[in-house]
Amino acid sequence: MPEKLNIPIRPRRNRKTPAIRGLVRETTLSPSDLIYPLFIHEDVLDVPIESMPGCHRWSLNGLIEEVGRAYAVGVRAIVFFPKIEETLKTPHGEECFNPDGLVPRAIRRVKEAYPDVAVITDVALDPYNSDGHDGIVEKDENGELKILNDETVAILCQQALCHADAGADVVSPSDMMDGRIGAIREALDAAGHEEISILSYAVKYASAYYGPFRGALDSAPKAGDKKTYQMDPANSSEALREVDLDIAEGADMVMVKPAGPYLDVISLVRDSVDVPVAAYQVSGEYLMIKSAAKDGWIDEEKVAMESLLGIKRAGASMILTYFAKDVAERLG
Ligand code: PBG
Repeated sequence: MPEKLNIPIRPRRNRKTPAIRGLVRETTLSPSDLIYPLFIHEDVLDVPIESMPGCHRWSLNGLIEEVGRAYAVGVRAIVFFPKIEETLKTPHGEECFNPDGLVPRAIRRVKEAYPDVAVITDVALDPYNSDGHDGIVEKDENGELKILNDETVAILCQQALCHADAGADVVSPSDMMDGRIGAIREALDAAGHEEISILSYAVKYASAYYGPFRGALDSAPKAGDKKTYQMDPANSSEALREVDLDIAEGADMVMVKPAGPYLDVISLVRDSVDVPVAAYQVSGEYLMIKSAAKDGWIDEEKVAMESLLGIKRAGASMILTYFAKDVAERLG
């Protein structure tokens, strides 16, 4: 018989049964924490997205059915990403505020069918912009690309108004232009939309993890990159400056994006602000889990759940994730 060690403090006692583990659990995940991003297009067919297995570009009818399936397992918040026809793309992306455009029609359809689903919309020009940037592009005398800030903000305000008029609950600017939160707040209030919330993508990094998403929407920049507006992945103090500004300008909630590789930033932001923090588990994070699981290297369900729990533990109150419906179903 090995001798008993004298260890009065044994942390394993708190892990000895599922019931005890349940009592001491610090973080929980629930379907009400999740926001389900959905791709839509102008077509009657639902088309699987090659770069994002398990995701589709939905027709409007398909969208309503998918929202219904997510609703049935407890998901109550969605965000749209439209794939816009090439012929409608222009340098200023005016299609983004067409009241009969794809997004406003999708908002109305979802609100009609599921009035209690929170409809969040992405505010940025990239799906509509013939240059594939989130803002208006100008070439300077040396041929260098410039993304025009203030001119872009004026259009984003019209886009946000268009979404609010169609019935969106929350508008979510993902463009990273300076001053857009204040300008959008003012435009919404002036139009009587003071109840519409703003979820700001305050801390959005210039990340290579967005690759599969740009493939899904054909929205990759035609030239240059997004580094003059999205943040440098090396920085975290700058994240605090961005959230402080956005909150001062009226953001109701702030987002960190991507999520998994930036858990330290989520935690830092959580500790320094008093508004809810969202995190976006982006397409590349999703695809890495999906592809490793496809070959049987990892267990998709368990890894997806653990990745989301980690994001929640870091300090996010809500998570945008392509796993929303599947995870909600399992949590059920
Ligand atoms: C664009 C936008 C992007 C994503 C959401 N909104 C791409 C980008 O900034 O290039 C990425 C989401 C993802 O990768 O899942 N405004």
